[in-house]
Amino acid sequence: MKTSFFKLTIRDVPLDNQTVLVRADYNVPMSADGNVDDDLRIRASLPTIEYLQKRGCKIVIISHLGRPEGRDATFTLEPVAQRLAHLLKQDVRFVDDCIGDKVYQAVKRAPKSSITVLENLRFYTEEEADDHEFAKKLIQATGARYFIQDGFGVVHRAHASTHAITLCVPSVAGLLLEKEYVTITEAIHSPQRPLVAVMGGAKVSDKIPLIECFVEMADTIIVGGALSNTFLAHAGINMGTSLVEPDQFQEIDRIYQVVKDKGVKELDDFIVLPVDAAIAHSIESADTRRIVALQDIDDNDMLDIGDASIKELLEIVKTAGTVIWNGTLGYAEKPAFAKGSAALADLLASTPNITSIIGGGDTADFVLKWDSKGGKSFTHVSTGGGASLELMSGNVMPGIESLLDAPRRKEYTNSNNHK
Ligand code: 3PG
Repeated sequence: MKTSFFKLTIRDVPLDNQTVLVRADYNVPMSADGNVDDDLRIRASLPTIEYLQKRGCKIVIISHLGRPEGRDATFTLEPVAQRLAHLLKQDVRFVDDCIGDKVYQAVKRAPKSSITVLENLRFYTEEEADDHEFAKKLIQATGARYFIQDGFGVVHRAHASTHAITLCVPSVAGLLLEKEYVTITEAIHSPQRPLVAVMGGAKVSDKIPLIECFVEMADTIIVGGALSNTFLAHAGINMGTSLVEPDQFQEIDRIYQVVKDKGVKELDDFIVLPVDAAIAHSIESADTRRIVALQDIDDNDMLDIGDASIKELLEIVKTAGTVIWNGTLGYAEKPAFAKGSAALADLLASTPNITSIIGGGDTADFVLKWDSKGGKSFTHVSTGGGASLELMSGNVMPGIESLLDAPRRKEYTNSNNHK
């Protein structure tokens, strides 16, 4: 890794035998019967926990889960604590609150190197309000000497456990946060070229800053998913009943202008759009997947990119040094319309000399379900959904900014980022 992190990490502070409060992002998908459905975020937190255990720290972990309105047993972190215990093959304590005397007593009794998971922070509205008193209570109840931010997926939020708490005790980054930051930043700022950005997902309006960033940084941008509907409609193609955002046409004009200003002659080779479509009468009728020319989408939805588009995509990706992939290329939750996404995942997984960065959220969910190696077939599967999008777009991340600076390592900060 050429890029170094601009904040202090757990390696930089004397935390041997101290009580530490770790903010993880254990906001994981849960099944209807209350079990953890996908444990990527829990697995990703293990290196920090193991490091702290080796240092003899008493470890207290806080997180949110979902968006509960007040205390709600459906959103308890207890199953997450159980999954953590299973992964670590050791006891993990759970306390059904995150502040107050119950927490104080439990942490006081916990031995060195123990792990205690506290209940969902969002059972208190003060968490999302970035409330300083609440942050103080978290520190008082746990007696933590250091705060460790390791919840990469939540550092784009300014909440009590990402911002206010850093005003209470010395606060540093965990190993996951550092890895996410460095890997993503490096892939964007000093990639192995050509850098190919593959962008899918639902809405152009959500992805404008990211598209702009890639116009500046990437060698080719491949657009798929519902995102491409608006680009194709902008190019004058009738997109049938597909979701189109005509109010984004001006933004697309602006983006093409930036591409021209960059000196690109062949716009269609720089921003590559689908050349055909996979359609069906309804998303449920998988057996009727049909490939049509774009002009023949008629009154159907484009549900996936078509076979010729997949072929073109693979040809481009094969030549890449780095691929950053954000957003699935069709309705990937339905196997019939996951062909474009699966073909891309296949190629990346079988071509280890391409650095492949999978940008969180739906794309990460897709590759994890698809990959028998739990994501290890790729260079990096980000644990951040919104957070990875914001980091890639060069936005300031309150949960990173508020940590202690590493004075001699200022290569990349969000403020001297590409924005
Ligand atoms: C995420 O899953 O993106 C993070 O955990 C943040 O969750 P939030 O969008 O509910 O703040």
